[in-house]
Amino acid sequence: MPRLEGFSDNINVAVFGASGGVGSALVDNLAHAVNINTVYAVSRTSLNGGKGIVPINCSDYSEERLASIAAELPDLDVVICAMGILHDNNLAPEKSRSQISMPNMQRVFEVNTFLPALIAKHMLPKLTKDRKSVFAALSARVGSISDNRLGGWYSYRASKAALNMMLKTLAIEHGRRAKNSVVIGLHPGTVDTNLSKPFQTNVAKEKLFAPDFSAARLLDVVEKVEPSDTGKIFAWDGQEILP
Ligand SMILES: NC(=O)c1ccc[n+]([C@@H]2O[C@H](COP(=O)([O-])OP(=O)(O)OC[C@H]3O[C@@H](n4cnc5c(N)ncnc54)[C@H](OP(=O)(O)O)[C@@H]3O)[C@@H](O)[C@H]2O)c1
Repeated sequence: MPRLEGFSDNINVAVFGASGGVGSALVDNLAHAVNINTVYAVSRTSLNGGKGIVPINCSDYSEERLASIAAELPDLDVVICAMGILHDNNLAPEKSRSQISMPNMQRVFEVNTFLPALIAKHMLPKLTKDRKSVFAALSARVGSISDNRLGGWYSYRASKAALNMMLKTLAIEHGRRAKNSVVIGLHPGTVDTNLSKPFQTNVAKEKLFAPDFSAARLLDVVEKVEPSDTGKIFAWDGQEILP
């Protein structure tokens, strides 16, 4: 991307979950924008830096660690949380209510809902107040209650619906202090990443996005949103997703 439109020169941005499919594509796109000074790429994984990219290791998302990251960082114009979990070696999304379990729900909510909320607690105060700022967290269309026609994926759906409520509530409080702020959720589409790999069989080829395409569309949304959009959830194409 030549420039992150709608923002001034020499801005700093931070991406959390920066090693992920969408997260790393966001970092790469942002690092190419001429008006971005530094992209802070926060990850549990040790990442290599690059031109305009400063990696920050966050192996443990404790409040102490988040507070120390906040103390290290300069003022920011954009923060994006790109972490999320749907499955791993010990976890699969529930097909039926019989598969609901406390440890699995706790794990999914921890990554999808609680971490972005804690990151917001520590990072919203770092956002500039005198001009437009954006705090965005990757959500998912399946977190929309009104859009739920298929059922299943109890924990993932509920964790994203709860994330959306966190974002709305954060937007209200932050907006009182920072009139130019925008706090939003973003749905990246179905993207070809580790998260979606086991579930791609029935996805039409043209509906399975490359991470770079999705990241570029999400940054289009970040460019276009205004303070009046705060608290909303947007898909990759700029359409609002209703709760
Ligand atoms: N891919 C899709 O089709 C799709 C569709 C709708 C919504 N989304 C959402 O988009 C976001 C990005 O997903 P993706 O497709 O890029 O997934 P991904 O490639 O699996 O990346 C997810 C990243 O989340 C972080 N993460 C995972 N487990 C974690 C844990 N236990 N603690 C802290 N961080 C953890 C990791 O980042 P680090 O290792 O860098 O810390 C990981 O690389 C997620 O919120 C996902 O729900 C994706």
